[in-house]
Amino acid sequence: MTERLQKIIAAAGLASRREAEKWIADGRVAVNGRKAVLGDVASAQDVVTVDGRKVDIAERKFYILLNKPVGYVTTLHDPQGRPIVTDLVKAVRARLFPVGRLDLNTEGLLLLTNDGDFAHHLAHPRHAVEKTYLVRVRGLLGESAKQRLVQGVSLDDGLTAPARVEKIRSTGNHTWFELTIHEGRNRQVRRMCEAVGLPVSRLKRIRVASLDVGDLPVGKYRFLSPGEVARLKRL
Ligand code: URA
Repeated sequence: MTERLQKIIAAAGLASRREAEKWIADGRVAVNGRKAVLGDVASAQDVVTVDGRKVDIAERKFYILLNKPVGYVTTLHDPQGRPIVTDLVKAVRARLFPVGRLDLNTEGLLLLTNDGDFAHHLAHPRHAVEKTYLVRVRGLLGESAKQRLVQGVSLDDGLTAPARVEKIRSTGNHTWFELTIHEGRNRQVRRMCEAVGLPVSRLKRIRVASLDVGDLPVGKYRFLSPGEVARLKRL
């Protein structure tokens, strides 16, 4: 993310933008050791100095909750040219990346940030962050299938950790329920349900830790409040 030098100097609290422009014009500002001119830009990777003293360019951190639509990939580049989740947050001028993954066909709560430590913290298995999915499966969820989901299902990468199954309701030959897990294996919910004989026909993540997707429309996002960010960092 590049910014004009006067903005960087002002954001560091050293001067107003107007004053900083004057400093640049007066030749007091350098980028990576080379004297800057008005209009020059720099990023957090550059060394900006005023009178030889380093300016602290901390990049502003963004924490965004997106309601991901089906049909978007959570990678940053897609060789097949499919839409990517960051297309939906283009108005935010930062290098955002998703915290964890959701499948192409999964919708719902996805966090995006440019704070690598935050993303790493939330995704770390040690913190066992709870994720709740609203699942629709083909077939009826009987007591024995439910108990298997709750107690652990044997998948090709091992037994799943205990989970919660709640709010079960059946419509015709489909069943809807909420499944809460705290692991983050690839396609975990789909594989767990498949393993108990219930193919997933719709999957939406509705909660991550203390965050709820609420009534945020599909494809829209909101910024997390400072309190929400602090709570997630404390996990
Ligand atoms: N489990 C899945 O199977 N898919 C997702 O996208 C998320 C969790």
